[in-house]
Amino acid sequence: MSRILITSALPYINGIKHLGTLAGSMLPADVYARFQRARGRETLYICATDEHGTPTELAAAELGQDPASFCAEQHRVQHDLGRAFGLSCDHFGRSSSPQNHRLTQRFAQTLWEAGFIEERVTQQVYSNADKRFLPDRYVIGTCPHCGYEAARGDQCENCTRVLDPADLLKPRSAVSGSEDIEIRGSKHLFLRQSLFAGKLRQWIEAKRSSWPNLVTSIALKWLDEGLQDRGITRDLEWGVPVNAFEWGPNPEGKTPDIEGLAGKVFYVWFDAPIEYIAATWEWAEARAQEAGRGPAQDAEWERWWRGEEASDVTYVEFMGKDNVPFHTVGFPCTLIGVNERLAADGTWTTVEARPWKLVDQLKGFNWLDYYGGKFSTSLKRGVFMDHALELLPADYWRWWITANTPETSDATFTWEQFQAQVNADLADVLGNFVNRILKFTENRFDGVVPEGGEPGPLEARLEDEVLAKLRELTGHLEDREFRKASTALRQLWVLGNQYLTEAAPWTAIKTDRDRAAVAVRYGLNLVALFAKVSEPFIPFAAEKIALAVGEGFPGRWPALDGEGLLRTLEPGRRVQAPEVLFRKVEDAQVAEWVARFGGAEAA
Ligand code: MF3
Ligand code: ZN
Repeated sequence: MSRILITSALPYINGIKHLGTLAGSMLPADVYARFQRARGRETLYICATDEHGTPTELAAAELGQDPASFCAEQHRVQHDLGRAFGLSCDHFGRSSSPQNHRLTQRFAQTLWEAGFIEERVTQQVYSNADKRFLPDRYVIGTCPHCGYEAARGDQCENCTRVLDPADLLKPRSAVSGSEDIEIRGSKHLFLRQSLFAGKLRQWIEAKRSSWPNLVTSIALKWLDEGLQDRGITRDLEWGVPVNAFEWGPNPEGKTPDIEGLAGKVFYVWFDAPIEYIAATWEWAEARAQEAGRGPAQDAEWERWWRGEEASDVTYVEFMGKDNVPFHTVGFPCTLIGVNERLAADGTWTTVEARPWKLVDQLKGFNWLDYYGGKFSTSLKRGVFMDHALELLPADYWRWWITANTPETSDATFTWEQFQAQVNADLADVLGNFVNRILKFTENRFDGVVPEGGEPGPLEARLEDEVLAKLRELTGHLEDREFRKASTALRQLWVLGNQYLTEAAPWTAIKTDRDRAAVAVRYGLNLVALFAKVSEPFIPFAAEKIALAVGEGFPGRWPALDGEGLLRTLEPGRRVQAPEVLFRKVEDAQVAEWVARFGGAEAA
């Protein structure tokens, strides 16, 4: 049986994440990881904070902190919120870890020595007042096309034209507002992505039939527009230092410009995806420490990532659509490049005997909006993870988001629709079912799974229908179709309610105790089944449900051959109704939340 390696796009360190981020990477990755573990597959789910870059330096400075302590603190906050949301990653790492420094530097060195990195001098804006180079979007000025006065150096938000900072009239620093800025030349490293166009196209074409159309169309669009070489270094302090002084000559015999590259760091989009691998190393290291050994052997983490040892691994990535180019072009160039060597005459040779693994399945998502407008971290618009948990337990959010995953198109959050859906699905259908059957068992069968009676046609039909839905649900989860999976799960819950209504043990018990016993036994078995299959979606409630019928948690995913499907609870077992599983969201709460977070008028 194959192993499953799962990564979700690494959340930026600055700022608590909103529901849109959760919907577009971490939550679906978690649902999938939980499902695969329940199926009995060896699963590794890796996530981390993405910590480098100018925004981090500026956010830290604003708080009067140095970037390192700022990141350490914010990492803790995001780690704890992830746990509170039930995100079950096996390791939540940090892109600033020593492991990522080591690996990023090692990959860069390999790429240089293999001939895939080139030096270039670029012209950049330097702010004398801020004593730093400014990335394009931190230069603002008047748009030469439309006259908008706060256009950013990379693009005018008003007329959407793509700009170069040199185009701006009256350019100034977005950091300090100072107009004392100048253009300076600076030495940088470029990854020669253009050389990879053919290899990448072949690779993407081969994925066309198995990857979502959203993903392959974005990737092919990038290839069609012509791949540009990409700057992979920056003039910043907070990042992985460029270690050019350790590098040997490239295939043309050229050594890097050590002086010109001194004091630079790698671009955040170069080191962040490498952290997927480095975080796996962190994970192995943490396990070694826990076991009182260490340092971890390379083989412990490399078995997920490279060579023959990883040939039984299926690697699945989850991300929002804006991340797709970096994962179908940027990161694959790094990984392919470190396996190859480009001779001075232009011929490629595979030199790495244990090549690094590329992604096997890439799931990309559209946007989750807030009343049709964007969730915005900078504008604090929408619902953020910390506030969400102040209002309601994690499962409410997990259920709504998963059921509305922005897969084929963008999806929109509104408080009104959220209330309607969680009340209907969780309170009226699932909660009501579990409560009805368990209360009845307590009242009429002393809280034990009753014996006696023979299943009849009603039970035969129930088993058929449940098995068909279970197969459907399982198929959708294997295919990472989260909306469809949620629909199938809801339909399973509905089957439970329908069965109870038809079998009506509360009526049967007046005349035929055996008949009532059969219905109760099947009802309780459905409860046990629901706990298992709901766990990936709503793990906290699923645990309560499992405990109510004396089942272990988390359970194993039910077998798809139907064998013993609704006969797992032995007669005589004690069961107990759980405390209320889902309280309904009241109109008054919705009114309060709309007032606090903004409703339709905010869009
Ligand atoms: N931090 C990026 C974002 O939120 C995602 C980084 S994914 C990685 O858009 F692969 F680079 F790690
Ligand atoms: Zn403009």
